[in-house]
Amino acid sequence: MTIKRLYINTMGCQMNVYDSGQIKNRLAPMGYVPTEKLDEADVIIVNTCSIRDKAEQKAFSFLGRLAPLKKRNPELIVGMGGCVAQQEGKRVLKRMPYVDLVFGTHAISRLPRIIERILETRCRVVDIEISETISPDDFVAGPFAQSNASAFVTIMRGCDNYCTYCIVPYVRGRESSRPMEDIVSEIRHLVSNGIREVTLLGQNVNSYGQKEGFGRFARLLAEVNAIDGLERIRFTTSHPKDFSAELIQCFRQLGKLCHHIHLPVQSGSDQILKRMNRHYTRQHYMDKVKQLKRVCPDIAITSDIIVGFPGETDQDFEDTLTLIKQIGFDGLFAFIYSDRPNAPAARFRDKVDETVKRERLQSVLASQESATLNKNQALVGSIQEILVDGVNNHKTDPNPDEFFESEATSLQWTGRTSTNKIVHFRHGLKQSDDNQRLTGQMLRIMIVEALPHCLLGRQLSSQAPV
Ligand code: 5AD
Ligand code: SF4
Repeated sequence: MTIKRLYINTMGCQMNVYDSGQIKNRLAPMGYVPTEKLDEADVIIVNTCSIRDKAEQKAFSFLGRLAPLKKRNPELIVGMGGCVAQQEGKRVLKRMPYVDLVFGTHAISRLPRIIERILETRCRVVDIEISETISPDDFVAGPFAQSNASAFVTIMRGCDNYCTYCIVPYVRGRESSRPMEDIVSEIRHLVSNGIREVTLLGQNVNSYGQKEGFGRFARLLAEVNAIDGLERIRFTTSHPKDFSAELIQCFRQLGKLCHHIHLPVQSGSDQILKRMNRHYTRQHYMDKVKQLKRVCPDIAITSDIIVGFPGETDQDFEDTLTLIKQIGFDGLFAFIYSDRPNAPAARFRDKVDETVKRERLQSVLASQESATLNKNQALVGSIQEILVDGVNNHKTDPNPDEFFESEATSLQWTGRTSTNKIVHFRHGLKQSDDNQRLTGQMLRIMIVEALPHCLLGRQLSSQAPV
């Protein structure tokens, strides 16, 4: 079999990261090996996101830059996958004459056949068929589902919630869950390949298995918790309306469940929450957080906020700011509302002025920045167990080298606390010694300094991991 090169540009959420792993797994038996170099690729795939208008533009702008490559090498196969592909379908072929293939979020298992067809006939293909349910053949275990010590595992796809701002139900289809035994066996496979942490993925993991009668999410968590060799479990995303008391108890009962929850609130105003079709109130959200903190006092809570949703008044926005202060989030992702095709809010008339939206975003970010730093500073002096992820290559983080100057002969490593905070530390092991030996280890680290987006630490004893 001749070796061919596959380049994937993954945009958007963890679902897309998982799907890109699935694409690599599917194409590996055909001889496709992943490459980081665009100009040596035989197949280029962009796995797109359409959650906001900006994300969609980014996808088209990347594809636009591929035109000269295709001119130079007419054999090159260019494909668009993911949520923009699902949404735009054959319109992409018209807009981008050198795109060979448009495949939707449910078409990944059919990719090998499609690529074969293109190679044989050089036809252009659009496959955006969406199925109501998951079939076991939709997922495949393989060598490319993992990165370092941690892996994503999709437990369900689609969404039935229809928040009025959201495109997901239209690009990922109806909510549908994978059987528990398939999920557990995929995780066992990952663990046997060195993975120590899994993040279970779904648009609304709290309603896992309810439609199909597969059992509740709390039971799935208990099954995963029992897998030997797995150290940590995370999950995302949770919908506050379905966040059950049983799930809250899991944080007490399941030793591997990390002390972090991403619980998107979107707004602190009841009027806006109602128009968003979120099915909970500000008070309901605050109560859930209170119960969580009672069961798991050190739990880190992060959230998503949309500013400038249609009809959002100064008072509504003020309610969001006070909610943020009252909860004390560990981190926040804040977004400016943007109209999405098919989403009902696109038809709401009382749109908020763009300048006001930008000002509101700045206010949220400014208020959260100091809160995040305070949360990090509270950890200075504590000892944290971290899972080592690899050598630090977080280029966007502030460079902690100054701090480490005195220890500059050793390599800088990175890992995460159970509460999902990034920790950089030095260790005597050089990368050339054996990178893999430290990656995937649980280490006890003393936190010595807090930066806005990460912590700096020192290993308690200098011995190599066992
Ligand atoms: N405009 C802005 N932000 C959005 N999100 C989802 N849809 C939109 C939209 N139309 C945000 C929500 C969600 C996160 C993934 O993206 O906050 O939780
Ligand atoms: Fe993920 Fe939603 Fe973006 Fe699709 S549109 S990639 S589901 S965030």
